[in-house]
Amino acid sequence: MLLLRPPRRAAPLLPAVHRVAMSSTPASPSATPSSSPAAEYHCRTKHSLTAGYARGPGRLDWANQPNPFLRFSPSPATPLPNPPTPAAAVPYPALFHAPPPPPRPLSLDSLSDLLFHSLALSAWKSAGGSTWSLRVNPSSGNLHPTEAHVLFEDPRAPGRLVLSHYAPRDHLLEARATLPAGDRSALLPPRATAVLALSSVFWREAWKYGERALRYCNHDVGHALAAVALAAATLGWDARLLDGLSDQDLGRLVGVDKGCPAPAPPDKIKMVSGKKGPAPWVERQHPDCALLLFPAGSEETEVDYGRMSDALREFDELEWVGKANALSKDHVVWDVIYKTAEAVKKHQPMPGERFSVSPWNMSSKLSEGLYKDLTAQEVVRRRRSAVDMDGTHVMGKEEFYQILLHCLPSGEVSPGERQGPQSALPFRVLPWDAEVHAALFVHRVSGLPKGLYFLVRNEEHFDTLRHAMRQDFEWARPDGCPDGLPLYRLMKGDCQRLAMQISCMQDIASHGCFSLGMIARFEPVLDDKGEWMYPRLFWETGVLGQVLYLEAHAVGISATGIGCYFDDAIHEVLGLKDLEFQSLYHFTVGAPVVDRRIMSLPAYPGPGIDA
Ligand SMILES: Cc1cc2nc3c(=O)[nH]c(=O)nc-3n(C[C@H](O)[C@H](O)[C@H](O)COP(=O)(O)O)c2cc1C
Repeated sequence: MLLLRPPRRAAPLLPAVHRVAMSSTPASPSATPSSSPAAEYHCRTKHSLTAGYARGPGRLDWANQPNPFLRFSPSPATPLPNPPTPAAAVPYPALFHAPPPPPRPLSLDSLSDLLFHSLALSAWKSAGGSTWSLRVNPSSGNLHPTEAHVLFEDPRAPGRLVLSHYAPRDHLLEARATLPAGDRSALLPPRATAVLALSSVFWREAWKYGERALRYCNHDVGHALAAVALAAATLGWDARLLDGLSDQDLGRLVGVDKGCPAPAPPDKIKMVSGKKGPAPWVERQHPDCALLLFPAGSEETEVDYGRMSDALREFDELEWVGKANALSKDHVVWDVIYKTAEAVKKHQPMPGERFSVSPWNMSSKLSEGLYKDLTAQEVVRRRRSAVDMDGTHVMGKEEFYQILLHCLPSGEVSPGERQGPQSALPFRVLPWDAEVHAALFVHRVSGLPKGLYFLVRNEEHFDTLRHAMRQDFEWARPDGCPDGLPLYRLMKGDCQRLAMQISCMQDIASHGCFSLGMIARFEPVLDDKGEWMYPRLFWETGVLGQVLYLEAHAVGISATGIGCYFDDAIHEVLGLKDLEFQSLYHFTVGAPVVDRRIMSLPAYPGPGIDA
């Protein structure tokens, strides 16, 4: 197999990867600024071809595999209609190319619909004596650290706001706290539908992945955000991050101190780090973010973060019900996760930060005929990670371009406008301009030479990217590339082996039609905005990843997120030398190989086990 053939005078790429492999230095130690806990964590948790993998447990302690289902008991449970009454089916491409349908009013049925198409179970699988559940939203290792909570006006008791925890195994809501009647506009502004908050139980990922787990938890938050935003769109709702809330506000909202294990004293974290034993506090939820759901088109929706924060203080005094179940008997404390999570907390809105809603921008359309005849609801519930790709399927060039058009944050822009602001679905859930680009390894796309390509998702970064990357890259527009698609060919050549090597030797990265690394502007973002952007950069990659999953299924193939990759190997390939840009998530898209030994069972009713 041909490896990347460099143009004359250029340093060969594969040898460059080998140089990384042969060097005895750990991943980018010199590039780690000690003043940034986020950058320190990031460099420390790099997988390296030479220095080895980030610190983790080595082997899996199956007896302590965390329960994937958090439950609060006793707490009043509201079973959600299952399946929800079918709403008007939205053809998948219409999600991106047509305005959203008229908004559904909030009811248990519409809430059920939202969760059924975003965070619910989508199947049970069984093989070799094991049975496990899978969900609409993906998760690294299928460990599902992400928990969801909904604040809404109880349709059965108008005027009463209730905060409920979503239990996906049984598709029900557990009421945790009910607010006394009164003016609640500070929490749920007029015309808003509901607030949906996400939290993470880091332990679920740390059990398998050790120190790198914080990255994966935040990828999963991003996937969940996109899943919710897309499901909301099928109901005629918009979804926008309430990013002016502090971590403390969010902790109050989801009740992290109510019925949950008590926090560990800081000295205890150090003492038990890396050793096995009971440490129930690692099962605490970390509050990640909250979304406002509101009828699409209500661009005038107003949020006063100061009033909302004050109203959330009252949550400390509410009567909370239910105690969290224990997820494991014994734990291992990977202390850097908790220290970093603490250091990257957001404490208050940025100066001048206000909630605002951008006009609903549609994505660019090449042809809807490229998609299978599926509804958006079918695509999201059928999404599945490929465990391997067939190594033969060739994707059409138009299909490839169409998928990438749906990956653009601003959707269709008029001539002269540039990609950057996140105004197209589902990216519009995030209030900042895009920071994440994609370096693509094209393996099997008809009419496109194999090679390394680059999708510039924020065109303001174009010059900086060109300057930061190898100077011998071509930056040529590929044949037939639509005008509105900022895609560039960097270099021709067969990158299959390279992609596999970079992705922790996983064939899945080379056997598909294309794979990619998501390249984020990194250190300048942490410097300019703050350490709290660290998790948000991963959320952005998760949102993009969710689009790739759905697009692949909608054209009849599959995809898989790749969290395991050698960080500095991809940087070396691109010529990135410092922390200005970092690769935060990898992905592969292609025709899946189906494992026929695995039996598929319906999501509901399930076998009633916690797996
Ligand atoms: C953040 C993230 C990282 C992942 N990393 C890998 C990976 O490195 N290799 C792999 O084969 N699958 C990877 N996956 C796929 C998961 O294993 C898969 O999502 C999980 O088993 C659940 O299956 P589902 O996606 O079909 O629901 C990753 C998924 C996510 C969300």
